Amino acid sequence: METKINVPFLDLKEQNRRIWPELQQAIDGVVSNAQFILGPAVERFEKAFAPYIGRKHCVGLNNGTSALHMALQACDIGPGDEVITTAHTWVSTSWAISYVGAKPVFVDIDPATYNINPKLIERAITPRTKVLLPVHLYGQACDMDALGRIAKQHNLLLIEDAAQAHGAMYNGRRIGSFGKIACFSFYPGKNLGAFGEGGAVVTDDEELAARIRRLRDHAQAGRHCHVELGYNTRMEGIQGAVLEVKLRHLDDWNAVRRQYADRYRQLLADVPGIQLPAAGKDGSHVWHLFVVLVRGKDRDALQKQLAERGVSTGVHYPTPVPLQPAYASLGYKPGDFPVAEDVMHRCLSLPMCPELTEKQIDYVAGVIRELAGS
Ligand SMILES: Cc1ncc(COP(=O)(O)O)c(C=O)c1O
Repeated sequence: METKINVPFLDLKEQNRRIWPELQQAIDGVVSNAQFILGPAVERFEKAFAPYIGRKHCVGLNNGTSALHMALQACDIGPGDEVITTAHTWVSTSWAISYVGAKPVFVDIDPATYNINPKLIERAITPRTKVLLPVHLYGQACDMDALGRIAKQHNLLLIEDAAQAHGAMYNGRRIGSFGKIACFSFYPGKNLGAFGEGGAVVTDDEELAARIRRLRDHAQAGRHCHVELGYNTRMEGIQGAVLEVKLRHLDDWNAVRRQYADRYRQLLADVPGIQLPAAGKDGSHVWHLFVVLVRGKDRDALQKQLAERGVSTGVHYPTPVPLQPAYASLGYKPGDFPVAEDVMHRCLSLPMCPELTEKQIDYVAGVIRELAGS
């Protein structure tokens, strides 16, 4: 039996400790200028993040939910419109659709990738469908060839929810560079995380970027001139400063995530009852989460046993969004999303972050092997 060690799900304290001198200097800069909202640190981050993704413009916002909301609002999506998205995501994806008064139309996922299944999209399209809003879930790029083809053929706006996929690639291009606009979250636990809330949109469309810059700041075209219904969704100076520092480390951190994903995949390859996530090809996966499927209904028991052995895990997500009480009025029912509903009972996210050690990854795998009796 493995000697017990503690393995956190992620270790932000250690991440901060490793780069603290850089972070402290950047934060000191904001404090000494007292530019706490937008300001030069946010602008510097925007100027670094847009080319990193391969886009012309980045607009820094207060979180990823707002990024989705502002994107849909700026594209004039509203009542009477339908937006197609995945059933298996964090609820913010569909909140944003609801905030603008449009209707979310949910599609089941591909069992191999957990991302929206392109084969099921066309039957969900109606004359009211305006947007295709895929999510690159767990850090893995969606099938952008198929999604791009469908969007083009049906004249749909493609808006990417890239909140979990900072740095992921698809056919040599960064995720976030495919849609008309793409939305990121910098929630602290993301691959690129702020010191609090943070988000951004990226786009090549200058007008769209300018409109979101206005919308985030009470829709002011000039001081005290509000040209439409506005919001306060501005990024804070300290978040811009922290994100600019952390962006310099993102590729290295993602490389370590890939190494650890490979290591888990090797060490757990033949464990009975554990289905491993498919390896992304050519950098298409940045392993925001490493999610296994546990056979039968044993997930909760395994999670409890792992906790007893010091291993923290997560469940992403235990209920498909269309089956949440908040969306009862849409009339979806159990059985409508067979793949997402199977995954919700069986998914288990293992500890994954670049600050873990190989020893910790090996320990997690060893304990799972032991518990699975192999
Ligand atoms: C897929 C997805 N979309 C949107 C969001 C919303 O981001 P935030 O928490 O920054 O509002 C998140 C993150 O939580 C997410 O994982």
